[in-house]
Amino acid sequence: MSSGVGILGLGKAVPEKVLTNQDLEAMVDTSDEWITTRTGIKQRHIADPDTAASDLGYAAAVEALANAHADAGHIDLIIAATTTPDMPFPATACLIQDRLKARHAAAFDVAAACSGFMYGVEVGKAMMAAGYQKVLVIGVDVISRLIDYKDRSTCVLFGDGAGAAVLGAVRPGYGILASEIGADGSGAMLLHVPAGGSRIPPQIQSIEAGQHYVKMCGREVYKFAVQIICESTERVLEKAGVSVDQIRWFVPHQANVRIIQAAAERLKLDADRVYVNVDRYGNTSAASVPIALAELVESRKLSEGDLILMVGFGAGLTWGSAVLRWGGFEL
Ligand code: UT7
Repeated sequence: MSSGVGILGLGKAVPEKVLTNQDLEAMVDTSDEWITTRTGIKQRHIADPDTAASDLGYAAAVEALANAHADAGHIDLIIAATTTPDMPFPATACLIQDRLKARHAAAFDVAAACSGFMYGVEVGKAMMAAGYQKVLVIGVDVISRLIDYKDRSTCVLFGDGAGAAVLGAVRPGYGILASEIGADGSGAMLLHVPAGGSRIPPQIQSIEAGQHYVKMCGREVYKFAVQIICESTERVLEKAGVSVDQIRWFVPHQANVRIIQAAAERLKLDADRVYVNVDRYGNTSAASVPIALAELVESRKLSEGDLILMVGFGAGLTWGSAVLRWGGFEL
């Protein structure tokens, strides 16, 4: 039996500044009560003006490398999953590569919005099958840069952050047992930022019209989310030959606690197996799944052999999920 592809170590980084529901009450026509009951969010972290995606991504990567006992010089690929890169190019992964002094690493970004980390892990796994040995996958977004803090329907939802994972070989039977990524571009306009790219480049009119901000059809995205979480996770569970009862931790993308609870209920996963931190961070886009995983390890809630079911979903529309058996580190 050949070795598996596992997560050897995780790291996370969030900006210091916290924006609470009470702060938002003073900014838009909203209330702590509405935000809490409709989303489960109590606070989110917001980056200072001089902090960009590569800064948070770098900090998370340093922690992940330390936890994986890995040297940056031994990383042969860096994938940064982000839709808020420092700049259109070069890739944020290249900026992080330079700061890490990961001289032997190729580096590129993947843009799959909130599913970005799951896409990064899938690409990293495939690249390991092609001969790469250690892959650093970073999910990072400074999504606050794309938010209109006058639009109550979006500004209460999101927060900034980064999470990182070092992928490497683990003992057979451990690591990623099954995974998938998918997309349905017919839903592209349900969650998008109209301007700032090649269709509507930055210009005074587009800025005045607020076209460089996130636009979302919340209800449609909500329905898509609950449905795709269930469909995608059921497929990977079947591929892995694992039943839902065997899952120790369900780690879904943290967008809205109601989405998580509705999906968990349909999947018959009771609350003590569902990881939730959306109350503290809001929706951190590509960072949400790796931040949650990093917290699970930090709080020693994971034991050797535990099965984890991860799932991401978001703009694109995109999704990705994976079943991972934790441990098997000593080859
Ligand atoms: O990472 C993936 C991306 N995003 C998601 O997964 C988000 C998916 N969607 C959702 O989580 C939910 O749809 C939202 C949290 C965005 C909205 O919750 P909802 O229960 O679907 O509310 P709604 O959009 O149907 O709005 C209900 C009411 C509306 O008022 P009327 O028309 O009923 O009078 C809104 O104007 O709530 C109003 N509303 C607010 N009220 C106070 C919308 N935002 C706010 C707000 N504070 N912040």
